[in-house]
Amino acid sequence: MKRILTYGTYDLLHYGHIRLLKRAKAMGDYLVVALSTDDFNILKGKKAYHDYETRKNMLEALRYVDLVIPEENWEQKADDIKKYHIDTVVMGGDWAGSDKFEYLKEHCDLVYLDRTEGVSTTKIKEDLNLPGEDEGLGPLLKV
Ligand code: CTP
Repeated sequence: MKRILTYGTYDLLHYGHIRLLKRAKAMGDYLVVALSTDDFNILKGKKAYHDYETRKNMLEALRYVDLVIPEENWEQKADDIKKYHIDTVVMGGDWAGSDKFEYLKEHCDLVYLDRTEGVSTTKIKEDLNLPGEDEGLGPLLKV
């Protein structure tokens, strides 16, 4: 049984998230998602639209996700790896250039997966705010 662990906020679940989770699950048999809590998001300067429980429920409904645990701080990763007998940690490609998580290689494999082009929670929020009522996506949003 190969166990994979990945981290994130997963707000306004989108196909970039789904692709990441699908590829992460395909690397093993059991996928754990450590989901940023609302307090940890504040610490990171983020504010999710959906609260932790809602984001957790949505992830638990996905076939690729076997377990959702809380991500409460930057330091918990080594403990998570031990506690859940993790073989591989998957990080988003946005972290590939940094050495922030390289120390995890002492504990398990570390893999970076490329982000999906053209979508992010931030972009969705921006796009939905931008067009006025009578322009752009306005009519679509009214349906
Ligand atoms: N992810 C991805 N492709 C995207 C967006 C996200 O592969 N287009 C991955 C991230 O690399 C991360 C996971 O999905 O491993 C969760 O990312 P998260 O930060 O929650 O989502 P974002 O859409 O990047 O959110 P934000 O815009 O708030 O940064």
